[in-house]
Amino acid sequence: MGWLEGQAAIVTGAASGIGRAVAERFVAEGARVVVVDRAEAALATLRASLGAMCETVVGDASLPDTNARAVAAAIDRFGRLDTVVSNVGVFDWHKRLDRLSADDCVAAHDEVFAVNVRSHLLMAREARPYLKETHGSIVMTCSTASFRGGGGGALYTASKFAVRGLVYQLAHEWAPDIRVNAVAPGGTVTGLSGIDSLGSADRRLADDERLVAAVGTATPLGFAAEPEDHAGAYVLLASTGNSRGMTGTIIVSDGGLLARI
Ligand SMILES: NC(=O)c1ccc[n+]([C@@H]2O[C@H](COP(=O)([O-])OP(=O)(O)OC[C@H]3O[C@@H](n4cnc5c(N)ncnc54)[C@H](O)[C@@H]3O)[C@@H](O)[C@H]2O)c1
Repeated sequence: MGWLEGQAAIVTGAASGIGRAVAERFVAEGARVVVVDRAEAALATLRASLGAMCETVVGDASLPDTNARAVAAAIDRFGRLDTVVSNVGVFDWHKRLDRLSADDCVAAHDEVFAVNVRSHLLMAREARPYLKETHGSIVMTCSTASFRGGGGGALYTASKFAVRGLVYQLAHEWAPDIRVNAVAPGGTVTGLSGIDSLGSADRRLADDERLVAAVGTATPLGFAAEPEDHAGAYVLLASTGNSRGMTGTIIVSDGGLLARI
């Protein structure tokens, strides 16, 4: 028996990286998943490997319609919703605020916050009635940048602090019906990408060998994580049987980075 046997879940940002590893692990633990991403081709390869346990929704997770379609797909296809892993995110590549024009600052802020913060707000409000029925849970993706400076630029760090605030606020507002938690990964070898408004949308973390090596060196455990390294933490938080008393909890999965600050 898997830890998520009989559950139906939504995972956003599932075409790549941490979201993909979580979706694959959820299915291995017995869950059926609606996987959401704007990268249609990569999402189709995930669907092909997960088969009948998986439904896809292609769209921009920062928009209401995509989140509404994802929740509707879970209910139509699986008849219930137990867990939402709200995980999409983009990076600002450590862009310094003093090197942004005012116009670029507005555009980059709107883009980063739409993806990194608004997507979670929209998914949470859309999923709430169905999660209430199952006494389900939400698991968001925070970051070490939710706790300290230097894990990105001002925009990324502010957005990830905002996600941490959202976890605490919704855990407070929606208890006792819905648990709201998060996982905070440290540097992880994924396709994490930049943003259109700063011309960095095609830049990907996994392609930056120097950055990956620097993460490994800076991390007490001595390696940059792989997406699969975090999947078990999401399973734990999604599993009512194993985390019934956990809400407003953020599991840090960072190789010890925050421990030495
Ligand atoms: N990689 C790291 O070092 C790291 C560290 C801490 C936290 N995180 C967080 O982990 C989460 C997952 O990122 P990842 O590292 O796996 O990157 P990734 O790029 O491999 O995966 C993110 C996925 O989200 C999708 N996506 C992005 N914006 C979207 C949107 N608006 N609508 C729909 N889909 C969208 C992308 O297409 C991609 O498939 C993010 O929230 C990121 O901030 C990553």
